[in-house]
Amino acid sequence: VSGRSVIYFDHNATTPLRPEVKAVVCAALDEAWGNPSSIHGVGRRARAWVERARKEVAALVGGLPEEVVFTSGGTEGDNLVVRGLARSAAAARALRGRRPHVVSSPLEHPAVVGPLAQLEGEGFEITRLPVSPAGEIDPDHLGRALREETVLVTLALANHELGNLYPVTALAAVARERGVLFHCDAVQAAGRVPVNVGELGVDAVTVSAHKLQGPKGVGAVWIRHGLLPDPLVAGGHQERERRAGTENLPGIAGFGEACRLAQQALAENGARVARLRDRLEMRLLAIEGARVHGARGCRTPGTTNVGFEGAPGDLVLIGLDLEGVCVSTGAACTSGTPAPSPVLLGLGLPFERAREALRFSLGPDNTQAEVDQVADLVKTVVARVRAAG
Ligand SMILES: Cc1ncc(COP(=O)(O)O)c(C=O)c1O
Repeated sequence: VSGRSVIYFDHNATTPLRPEVKAVVCAALDEAWGNPSSIHGVGRRARAWVERARKEVAALVGGLPEEVVFTSGGTEGDNLVVRGLARSAAAARALRGRRPHVVSSPLEHPAVVGPLAQLEGEGFEITRLPVSPAGEIDPDHLGRALREETVLVTLALANHELGNLYPVTALAAVARERGVLFHCDAVQAAGRVPVNVGELGVDAVTVSAHKLQGPKGVGAVWIRHGLLPDPLVAGGHQERERRAGTENLPGIAGFGEACRLAQQALAENGARVARLRDRLEMRLLAIEGARVHGARGCRTPGTTNVGFEGAPGDLVLIGLDLEGVCVSTGAACTSGTPAPSPVLLGLGLPFERAREALRFSLGPDNTQAEVDQVADLVKTVVARVRAAG
């Protein structure tokens, strides 16, 4: 589709780089090529860029700059915290031969599912909380799942496919009361809805630059002061022993700028994008046999997940792509596989219904004209797919 204009409704997969962010990335490449660990002036200049970005990331999540650890993105961040905190917390506990226990949900992103599977292979026991058909998680269920040997709870703030926001403040309070660490994957939430680690009462949060119009391949975890996850990467002393390796300076600088701009426009963009999403959803629901997946009340502003009965999502996606419209049938990393998304199956949807799911995720640059055009195109493509089936 390159070379002609596309309508991009896949912001949960990734977002276009903001021009202001690109300018900062380029300036960092030119002006901050030093090694931030070097003691001389060139190194100190590079260090200043990293620390400025650290402040912006910390401000976006309401934490202290020294609690922010830069990573290569959301996936590394989730791995560092889920595996690293579970392991270090288990080692610090007197479990007397009992298996350490971690609580999560069946709706998590593969970046959390993967490290949980590794922990399971190491002998950890994993409980996945029950979810309602709309994908809601009840804090009472968490209370019942916690045990003496529970070392970590990991739950997303916003679901990547449904956009649903979880009651993390209430969930984290349940864990805290029992002395259990709480990690929250805020990759889909940060820059779209307010995220404040103090108000959430969590111990660690993951964010990723490319979901908020920053560059790809850079992200961060906020980890509460005093917590030291087992590192993923052995090597130098960077990032206060939490993440070895010379920093991705241009990426980090761009990430900081993207956080600053996202924070500035948070309320305004949120309200506008939600209005566009609601308009799109209303028009899509007017198509016969359409249904919205997940709870509609509390979501990130841009996301709606809709199924059209009798029209497999992958076929509608291809039809829309041919018209220059980008949407998704699932998490970016599982696109291309015909199996329905584990999130939709996790809601208890039958296989056929789950296969019909399409995720539309809007961003701040989308317009009402695009919404209306996409709604018309979906109607046409769904009718075509149904007629061919
Ligand atoms: C909820 C969630 N967590 C983690 C990730 C992984 O982030 P990254 O693409 O930066 O590795 C994603 C990306 O889709 C996500 O949606």
